[in-house]
This record gives sequence, structure tokens and C-alpha cells, in this order.
Amino acid sequence: MTTSTTPLTDLPPRFSDAAMSALVDRPVRFDLAESTCPSLRLGDLFTPAVLDRLEKVEIGYGTTEGDPHLRALVAAGAGVRADQVLVTAGASSALFLVALSTCGPGDHAVLLAPYFPPTRAVLDALAVRTSTVGLDFDRGYRLDEQAVDAVAATLTPETRLVVLASPQNPSGVRVTEPELRRLLERMTVLAPRAVLLVDETYRESTYGGARPPASAAALSPRVVTCSSLSKAHGAPGLRVGWLTATDPALRERLRAAKFNTSVCCSGMAEALAVEVLDRAEEVLADRSALLTSTVDVLTRWAREHADVLEFLPPDGGAMCCLRLRADRVDDGAVPAFYEALAAREVRVAPGAWFAEPDRVFRVGFGHLPEESFRVALDRVSDALSVLPGPSELETGNGCGNATPSPSME
Ligand SMILES: Cc1ncc(COP(=O)(O)O)c(C=O)c1O
Repeated sequence: MTTSTTPLTDLPPRFSDAAMSALVDRPVRFDLAESTCPSLRLGDLFTPAVLDRLEKVEIGYGTTEGDPHLRALVAAGAGVRADQVLVTAGASSALFLVALSTCGPGDHAVLLAPYFPPTRAVLDALAVRTSTVGLDFDRGYRLDEQAVDAVAATLTPETRLVVLASPQNPSGVRVTEPELRRLLERMTVLAPRAVLLVDETYRESTYGGARPPASAAALSPRVVTCSSLSKAHGAPGLRVGWLTATDPALRERLRAAKFNTSVCCSGMAEALAVEVLDRAEEVLADRSALLTSTVDVLTRWAREHADVLEFLPPDGGAMCCLRLRADRVDDGAVPAFYEALAAREVRVAPGAWFAEPDRVFRVGFGHLPEESFRVALDRVSDALSVLPGPSELETGNGCGNATPSPSME
């Protein structure tokens, strides 16, 4: 077969960057970049009663809105009605459907940073004019009054969408209900036609067995939420997520967008999702127990490294942010940190994935079993110990040793 030298399309790529896809495409031995909880296995779900139900599942088309039992379970958890829920192929598809249904080319959207990269990528692919409002590591990434003012300063009557996540990815920091209400008040005045998308993908990942905080789904007709079974429940492979929309016209628009892009979700996945949600209490409690323990391990580890690292404790979710101290690690030495980690078969998620500088990085503490998690942290300690100090870098004396020290072997 001959290969044509003429490109098949001269369109600029719609998605220029998918660096984060390494998480699913390029496994590493100690992956601290992942933000999921331990994966469920099919065998965890398969009791005789469940198998009996699954045997009867027809492999026909489902409905565009999704299985009624599944929507009822989701609705009960989000405090809305089942007819206000739309099942989607993961929260990713929900993010796309909302952007597609609320924004046209040239319309204005506002995105709070740091953010999950596809949130931005779909807006760019749809040629939406996006203002990014950066929350600040030094203010704990809070949507405080100063941050709400910064969002308000970008709002116009042309703004169609404002997007944030709670807990936020990468930091695990939550937006509180009073903070959301303050933002909604400003939107009502300054951007009366804008939808507020609250991405709640990590809402049900809690510590110490705490009940998940209430969903924002019923706060206002202009609020749309999305979530999925991917993170807190450990079932990302089902590709089952959902949207809530309490405005009937918007919900219908979203349903039409889903039909025209995918018809419906997999009926088999929806049937399995019902089984997961039927056992949600147990599934979430198991994962909460692990997170409670690993977040404690991480907190103590971060304290031991306070001379070189700043640590931002998370409110929820299986991930949080740390930052290499600027007075200890020069900008020029930051790449050496990632090289040293790679040499030790460890990966953390670099700040650049989330529109932050690379001296900020995300650590996931729900993905590895606790013993491996501790080993991975030891390896990060070792990588930190070989970083050149500021003066060493200037004088060229930094060892920058990217190979593991013998103690790591
Ligand atoms: C904030 C946030 N939203 C949405 C998603 C998409 O998750 P999924 O499509 O697996 O439900 C992710 C995944 O990492 C995420 O971090």
C-alpha cells in the first residue's frame, strides 16, 4: 500500500493536546497521577440474584434519557426528580453535551482554573471564547469573595456558560453552598443567560465515612451538574455518568444533543450501574476507608518534607495538590524533579495539565494499595533529595541525579 503525502484534512486539529491521556495509555509502575479509587471487579457485583437479573438484560437500544431505575437512583442522590436526570457516557460526555448545547462559535464562557483539561478542550474545539479565572494556591484554591469578584469581572450579557468543579480537580478543594450562591447572584445580574455547570465527579469521595455533601443540582434552574461512577465508586470502565438539569427546556436540549451524537448509552453498562448504585453505601464506605488512611499517610509525609514542599489538604476526592517551594527549588530545577520521578518509575500529574505551573503537582491517593502508596512516596522523597538547591543550580554544582539511589532498590 502506498502512503499519500497529501494530508487528508487541512483543518487545524480540534484537540491539540491530550497529554493527560498518558494516564490511560502509558501505565507506570507507581502511578500517583491517577485520581480514581480502587476499581470494582465484575465479580464484586455478581451475586446469584444479580446474575439472574443481568441474564434478562436485552441488548437492544436503550432510551436517550437512560434507564428509569438508574435515573431514579441518581436523582435520589442529587435531590432532584428522575425526569431531571440524563444518563451520559461518563462525566466527559456530559461536559461535551453541556458545552455543545449552551455555546456556539464566538459565544463567551468562563472557566475556573485549575481545571480538568477536557473541560477546556471541548470549549476550544467549539470555538467558544473562554475567559479563564485562576484560583490561587496561596488562597487554598477557594472560591472566596475575591475569586467571585474576579469571575464577575469577566461576566457579560453574552456569557453562556460558567464551569467549575467541586471538589476541584486537581486540588480536591470544595466550593461551599454559600460560595455558589454568591456566584449565582452575580450571574443573575451580569450574565442572565448563562448556565452554571458544577462538575461533581468527586463529590461522593469522602474521608472518615463522612456523608457526601449535598449536590448543587437543586440550587437554581440555571445550575446543571454532572458526575459519574468513575471516581468515588471505582467503576470508570462502565462509562456511566449523568447530568442533572432542572430547567425543562435545557434538559430537553441536552437530551436532543445526546441522541444526535450517540443515540443512547449501553444498556448493559446501565444495568451494571444500577447494581453499583444499589450497593453504593458499601462501595463508597470501602473506598472512604482507604482514602482516610492514605490521606493521613500523605499528610504526615508532606509534613516531613515541609522544607521543600507546600501541601494543600483536600476536602474530598482521591487527589490533592502539592507545590515545590520556590525558595528551595528554582524554576530551572523543576524539570529535574519529573526526570528523577520517571527514573524511579513514579508519575505524578504535572501542574501544566491543569493550567498551573509545573512546580504544582497532583498526587492521587486512592489508586494504589496502601503499601504501594507508601513505597511510591518513599521514591518521591528520594527524587526530592537529589534536586539541586537554588545556589547549586546557579553555580552548576547541582548533581541533578536522575537515577535512583541504592536505598531505593
Ligand atoms: C473533574 C472531572 N470531571 C470529569 C471527569 C471525567 O470522568 P468520566 O468521564 O470518567 O466520568 C474527570 C476525570 O478525570 C474529572 O476529573
